[in-house]
Amino acid sequence: MSIQQENRFQAIISHAKEYGFVFQSSEIYDGLSAVYDYGPYGSELKKNIRDYWWKSMTQMQDNIVGIDAAIFMHPTTWKASGHVDNFSDPMIDNKDSQKRYRVDHLIEAHAAKLEDAGKKTEADALLEKMDQLLAKEDFVALKQLIEENKISCAVSSTCNWTDIRQFNLMFSTQLGSVAEDADTIYLRPETAQGIFVNFLNVQKTARMKIPFGIAQTGKAFRNEIVARQFIFRMREFEQMEMQFFCRPGTELEWYEYWKETRMNWHLSLGLPKEKYRFHDHVKLAHYANAAVDIEFEFPIGFKEVEGIHSRTNFDLKSHQEHSGKKLTYFDTEINKHYVPYVVETSIGLDRMFLLILCNAYDEETINKEDGTTDSRVVLRIPAKLAPNKLAILPLLKKDGLPEIAKELLNECRGNFKCYYEEKDTIGKRYRRQDAIGTPFCVTIDHQTKEDQMVTIRYRDSMKQERIPLNKVKEIVMNEVI
Ligand code: GAP
Repeated sequence: MSIQQENRFQAIISHAKEYGFVFQSSEIYDGLSAVYDYGPYGSELKKNIRDYWWKSMTQMQDNIVGIDAAIFMHPTTWKASGHVDNFSDPMIDNKDSQKRYRVDHLIEAHAAKLEDAGKKTEADALLEKMDQLLAKEDFVALKQLIEENKISCAVSSTCNWTDIRQFNLMFSTQLGSVAEDADTIYLRPETAQGIFVNFLNVQKTARMKIPFGIAQTGKAFRNEIVARQFIFRMREFEQMEMQFFCRPGTELEWYEYWKETRMNWHLSLGLPKEKYRFHDHVKLAHYANAAVDIEFEFPIGFKEVEGIHSRTNFDLKSHQEHSGKKLTYFDTEINKHYVPYVVETSIGLDRMFLLILCNAYDEETINKEDGTTDSRVVLRIPAKLAPNKLAILPLLKKDGLPEIAKELLNECRGNFKCYYEEKDTIGKRYRRQDAIGTPFCVTIDHQTKEDQMVTIRYRDSMKQERIPLNKVKEIVMNEVI
């Protein structure tokens, strides 16, 4: 990452905090690593992204229905899905102290010491190398990196290390009140399995005919190993997933269909095409026969935001074997029973949030009419997703202007989210709305009392024009609904 991009990323993170989008979790206790809370504007933006996805994936489709499955699931679910055996991260033990470390934690602690000693470049290089080796799962080279850098155990102070081994990424907890008697269960690491185990319930109760899809949004949990990039990689995050069940042999056609449909969804938000690309998986998971990532150019580089996976019939077959319950479908068109094949679309809600924020953030220089310049920070969030759609601003706090403004507020607030503000100069109020991405501001002034006209100001162009007061609701609704 160049210094310019690094600075931009840091500026976005600071802005997100300063303007109530994202806070570190439990900040007053110095935070919890890779866990974040969403503030007043952040929670609105997040909800709007979720709603936009939900509407386009259920309401606008003929053959997709939604569910809301529990986070806790029967532990055998994760045996069947392969997560118990295959979902893991590297650990290393010190032979003298017997203390076990996560490899990334050990190296990060060493990098922090280097940084404290004024060796930031060395620390950054070490972390970059670590990330590369972790991504390649090259554990031999990772151990060498630890040894070459003479990274020692905090307890024994020696560099006497075991080989690196994997540890599971799932968080576990106990079901029941007495820990000794209780079963270990997992916090789901993906929402998809809640869909698979409900396949027949949904198919039968909603009378779905193949091909059809089941959509779900919800929390997922992973004890992530590399979790340093703000909300890009979190330990508690939210997914928006859809499993599309189809006839065996048709899955690759549906895969192509969903690949294109999902890319179009991103572009439908007016996001720049040139910042998107597909990245085909070369090394496929054992259950997949095709997989692609939709990548976006974040300030931290091109990164995955969504995955489209042709998962064959692996999951349903495996749940069938582990549960002993039949998960077949009778296809009346071809008179055959079969276990359906599945194409999955899976997008991280928090990652989409970060994408919107990174794309929206702009530091702009304004050339004023008197020849001087000014600057502003503006979030060019797509109007459909913006936390507030309309700011209603009486020019003064007197002369009947607030009354007119509040009448407009009452007319609009049931249809879309409004913000009402009387304090400060109008210029300051516009800047605050720019900084939280409000697409429209309307100012009520003394002239409004005479002619029932108001000034509407557009966030992106800063253009202002007079429009009839009774047209405000319609103009805003056309852009935001
Ligand atoms: N059911 C398939 C599945 O979970 P994945 O590629 O592991 O596939 C899908 O995750 C999406 O979930 C990713 O493209 C990403 O947007 C999001 N995601 C995964 N891990 C994440 C994390 N630790 N923090 C934030 N988002 C994450």
